[in-house]
Amino acid sequence: MFLARLGFLSLLSLVQLALGAVQFQSPDDLPGIEYDFIVVGGGNAGAVVASRLGENQDYKILVIEAGLSDAEVPDSRVPGLSHNFAVTGNRADWNYTTTPQVHVNGKVTPYLRGLMLGGCSSHNEMMYTRGSRDDYDRWAAVTGDNNLSWSKMFPYILKAETWSGPNDPNLPEDGHYDPSVHGRSGNVNVSAAYYAHPLNDLWVAATKELSKSSDEFPPLLDMNGGRMIGMGRTSVTTSWDQDTIGHGVRSSSVTAYLAHTSDNVHVLLNTRVTRVVPSTDNHPNGTDIRSVEFATTSEGPRYNLTATKELIISGGVINSPQILLNSGIGPREELEALGITLLIDNPSVGKNFSDQPAVPIGFSTNLPIDEFNKTAALVEWNTSHTGRLAVPPHMAPLGWVRFPPTAAPFKDGSSDPTGGQNSPHVELFFRNVTLIPAWQTPKGNASILMLIVDGNPMSRGSITLATSSPFDAPLIDPNFLAAPIDTAILLEGVRSAQRLFSAQTFSSSVFGLVGPAPDANGTLTDESITDYIKHVTQPNIHGVASCSMAPHGADWGVVDPEFKVRGTAGLRIVDASVLPFVPSGHTQAPTYAIAEWASDVIKSSWTKN
Ligand SMILES: Cc1cc2nc3c(=O)[nH]c(=O)nc-3n(C[C@H](O)[C@H](O)[C@H](O)COP(=O)(O)OP(=O)(O)OC[C@H]3O[C@@H](n4cnc5c(N)ncnc54)[C@H](O)[C@@H]3O)c2cc1C
Ligand SMILES: *[C@@H]1O[C@H](CO)[C@@H](O)[C@H](O)[C@H]1NC(C)=O
Ligand SMILES: *[C@@H]1O[C@H](CO)[C@@H](O)[C@H](O)[C@H]1NC(C)=O
Ligand SMILES: *[C@@H]1O[C@H](CO)[C@@H](O)[C@H](O)[C@H]1NC(C)=O
Ligand SMILES: *[C@@H]1O[C@H](CO)[C@@H](O)[C@H](O)[C@H]1NC(C)=O
Ligand SMILES: *[C@@H]1O[C@H](CO)[C@@H](O)[C@H](O)[C@H]1NC(C)=O
Ligand SMILES: *[C@@H]1O[C@H](CO)[C@@H](O)[C@H](O)[C@H]1NC(C)=O
Ligand SMILES: *[C@@H]1O[C@H](CO)[C@@H](O)[C@H](O)[C@H]1NC(C)=O
Ligand SMILES: *[C@@H]1O[C@H](CO)[C@@H](O)[C@H](O)[C@H]1NC(C)=O
Ligand SMILES: *[C@@H]1O[C@H](CO)[C@@H](O)[C@H](O)[C@H]1NC(C)=O
Ligand SMILES: *[C@@H]1O[C@H](CO)[C@@H](O)[C@H](O)[C@H]1NC(C)=O
Ligand SMILES: *[C@@H]1O[C@H](CO)[C@@H](O)[C@H](O)[C@H]1NC(C)=O
Repeated sequence: MFLARLGFLSLLSLVQLALGAVQFQSPDDLPGIEYDFIVVGGGNAGAVVASRLGENQDYKILVIEAGLSDAEVPDSRVPGLSHNFAVTGNRADWNYTTTPQVHVNGKVTPYLRGLMLGGCSSHNEMMYTRGSRDDYDRWAAVTGDNNLSWSKMFPYILKAETWSGPNDPNLPEDGHYDPSVHGRSGNVNVSAAYYAHPLNDLWVAATKELSKSSDEFPPLLDMNGGRMIGMGRTSVTTSWDQDTIGHGVRSSSVTAYLAHTSDNVHVLLNTRVTRVVPSTDNHPNGTDIRSVEFATTSEGPRYNLTATKELIISGGVINSPQILLNSGIGPREELEALGITLLIDNPSVGKNFSDQPAVPIGFSTNLPIDEFNKTAALVEWNTSHTGRLAVPPHMAPLGWVRFPPTAAPFKDGSSDPTGGQNSPHVELFFRNVTLIPAWQTPKGNASILMLIVDGNPMSRGSITLATSSPFDAPLIDPNFLAAPIDTAILLEGVRSAQRLFSAQTFSSSVFGLVGPAPDANGTLTDESITDYIKHVTQPNIHGVASCSMAPHGADWGVVDPEFKVRGTAGLRIVDASVLPFVPSGHTQAPTYAIAEWASDVIKSSWTKN
């Protein structure tokens, strides 16, 4: 029955669904009306803020998005294609790279960012992890605003979520997640959709086996309940409720929010905001900034518009600081060196940039590789939103390991970099079972391709301008491994993965570590693994903190707890860039939550008067 229902749903009708908000392809098409709010960037957070503000039918809202409509990127709807199209050199990506990483042998890596409506939520890997309660409580402590604590944010986390159960009809929902921590009436479709693979069952058996002798790998019923330590199954932002049209389709901030707004929300596509601009009559409380300047090409005409109420920048962790810097809001010396007129001297803009370092490793295996006929699978997905492409490309198991205080990284007296006892030190992420040459063992075995992720890095980097042109890419420096403890934690993470696969359960299916070179005696020493880490570490692309929130009146930070840019009136930033620390997990769920909270803050500031 559900096949019959989905059968007539072509890509075309999905495209039409995405037209709740009114879209304009060029500035010349705009209707010439006044807008109460202008949102810069229709990404993960920006789409939420625009939609929530648009619930007040009296408000007119304009979203200005640099990229194209996600509807023109059909692959963005297909969960199983995220690896294929979320690559640099894609017309829906900003094609950024990091600066040469001085502590990673000068390595330069792509730094993917969505350049389309929905931003990264339209091309990310759909993992849904909220982080630990400690992450939120630390944000609250650092910003002096208890509203960011886990217990205060929890209603906003739920407000963004509609959970639908596991995709495996043989599994009861009980025992695979905790219903009490999930939202059932929110916007974003979340489910436990993953593909069947023998590793799923071996993983459960290994967890049980190892738990008898060690507390390193406890089974974890639900990693989204605030305590994020143990072995569980991934949740992702797709629906598995067969009665919804979202079944087997990526749920993005467009499908989940913008598609459901009324025509008081307008979206201008293909248009880059170059600067925010003060109005001539300065507000007594600061520089009144409610105007935006924008353009479609670097040489083309500049347009401008003024919001009658507020401007909200939601350009993401790279572009929000870039827009401020281009506008003259940032460190005085940096701006003067580029000949940009200083508007507000704020040394924190673009500083404190933090991302999780990730180390790719493999384990030699005779488990089956994830092979399927992509042509046939795409036809099936296109017809019924079922099959291998209806689920994300990564595997179901997901592990979070917290090391004891006696573990190697802390032997030198280093303090715990996490927010607290409910937070893991490393994530064990399972991509797929692969036969790509770099991961083939001498006997031609496949590898279980993994990422070992340091979820709470101590290193801090920066976003700075390379030139004074808003059309040039900024310099993206996560400064990986600058703090020695980050390397020590990654090393212990690799050791942890080895301990996991040493379980008897895996004795006939998973063999040695692939990646680091053994020494002359065939031993994988700490030195050889450390050397490997210092050559291969790459971004987990969960950047935050380049426009960090700080307490009211603090002498650092970019926004205050009401998301207002320090020293201005009329200007806020709402996106992942305001989070002062990266959450222990992945960033999209916290981004939805913080955008929901910010929307309430903005709305209430205009209804109180
Ligand atoms: C490939 C990839 C995989 C990921 N996988 C996961 C995952 O599995 N799970 C998870 O939780 N997180 C994942 N993340 C991270 C997560 O998606 C992001 O942290 C989060 O979506 C960021 O949201 P944001 O609103 O801050 O920024 P974005 O979603 O990047 O939104 C910024 C928007 O602003 C637009 N913009 C920028 N500059 C301008 C300008 N000057 N003018 C107009 N518009 C502008 C951009 O085009 C974009 O649409 C992944 C990220 C990537 C890139
Ligand atoms: C990224 O590369 C693709 C392919 O070359 C291109 O179409 C796209 O415009 C580039 N993005 C940017 C922001 O330059
Ligand atoms: C945050 O919480 C405090 C105390 O609960 C409240 O008084 C304040 O108004 C809240 N902040 C915002 C922006 O709503
Ligand atoms: C799920 O996805 C569909 C399609 O993207 C969307 O319309 C719907 O609002 C989402 N949420 C629910 C609860 O179905
Ligand atoms: C301006 O500042 C004063 C004093 O700090 C404050 O009471 C008032 O609410 C502020 N007004 C606006 C519009 O921010
Ligand atoms: C906006 O553009 C108009 C003309 O198009 C110009 O007169 C005005 O000075 C501009 N304002 C700003 C703030 O750039
Ligand atoms: C970076 O963040 C810390 C708080 O985590 C703060 O003390 C420091 O001043 C910030 N640095 C800058 C340059 O903003
Ligand atoms: C390859 O797999 C076989 C089992 O099929 C195993 O005995 C062997 O150790 C593996 N080789 C390597 C280099 O891991
Ligand atoms: C893949 O599927 C397509 C469409 O069904 C078919 O034409 C093709 O022969 C298949 N390829 C292989 C290698 O089986
Ligand atoms: C998907 O369906 C649409 C409309 O039904 C069709 O135009 C398109 O060719 C199909 N694509 C594939 C890969 O089957
Ligand atoms: C496994 O993932 C890697 C990295 O994303 C990708 O290059 C490779 O094609 C994937 N392999 C399979 C068999 O899907
Ligand atoms: C290899 O083992 C021998 C004998 O135990 C030892 O002398 C030598 O230092 C070892 N080589 C390396 C590279 O560890």
